Amino acid sequence: MRRPLIAANWKMHMTLADAGELAQSVVEGCRAVRDVDIILAPPFTALARVRKEVSDSSIGLGAQDLYWEEKGAFTGEVSPGMLKDAGCDYVIVAHSERRQLFGETDKSANRKVIAALTNDLMPILCVGETDAERDRGVTYVVVDRQVKEALKDVAEAQLDKLVVAYEPIWAIGTGRTATPAQAEEVHQSIRGQLAKLFSADAADKVRILYGGSVKPDNVDDLMAEADIDGALVGGASLKTESFNRICGFQRRT
Ligand code: PGA
Repeated sequence: MRRPLIAANWKMHMTLADAGELAQSVVEGCRAVRDVDIILAPPFTALARVRKEVSDSSIGLGAQDLYWEEKGAFTGEVSPGMLKDAGCDYVIVAHSERRQLFGETDKSANRKVIAALTNDLMPILCVGETDAERDRGVTYVVVDRQVKEALKDVAEAQLDKLVVAYEPIWAIGTGRTATPAQAEEVHQSIRGQLAKLFSADAADKVRILYGGSVKPDNVDDLMAEADIDGALVGGASLKTESFNRICGFQRRT
């Protein structure tokens, strides 16, 4: 059984005061949520503030990005060791906004995944196709390539420390969610690809999150799919009520 994971990607939002308040209300509101890993990924500036709020709870702390070098003249970058020091256990890697707006590639995704894994940070590797790629019928080609390239030189034994997030770019921040069946199909294919690259056993343990306009009113249906193990939530994670409802998704048996 894979333990569900719900991660909040706050992107470039939240002052320190807002971050503290939201983290506190998530801690309060999710106290009764059992058997679900919940993570908050604030901007770098708010990591310490959020850490303070979540330290006595089961809520985990994640960063939105990292650089692969340990230290040095890399103005503007943050190293894996710095993230560990700031209390992070998770880090989002190669989010589509990083790929589309900041020129990140499969190669940099790979370096970041390796840097995270070797520094005891769980990478949440984001993959997903654009609208045009879906229309051209190359969704699986694109996602397979992204997974394969990002996991080059990763050892099978490291796979249980990896999370994959399938985020179709056309569904991010658009209000257009993939249907549960559409998402499930791609999740199955990602798991199949992991089985090919590593082993069926290892692939079976990897949590694959869905991201892209996850909301209180679609999370239950998404989570009912066999290969959807959680959600990476942007917009709906910025409000306590919606994020707490997502974390408390209703299970179907
Ligand atoms: P969204 O963002 O929930 O606002 O669509 C998801 C993400 O980009 O991780």
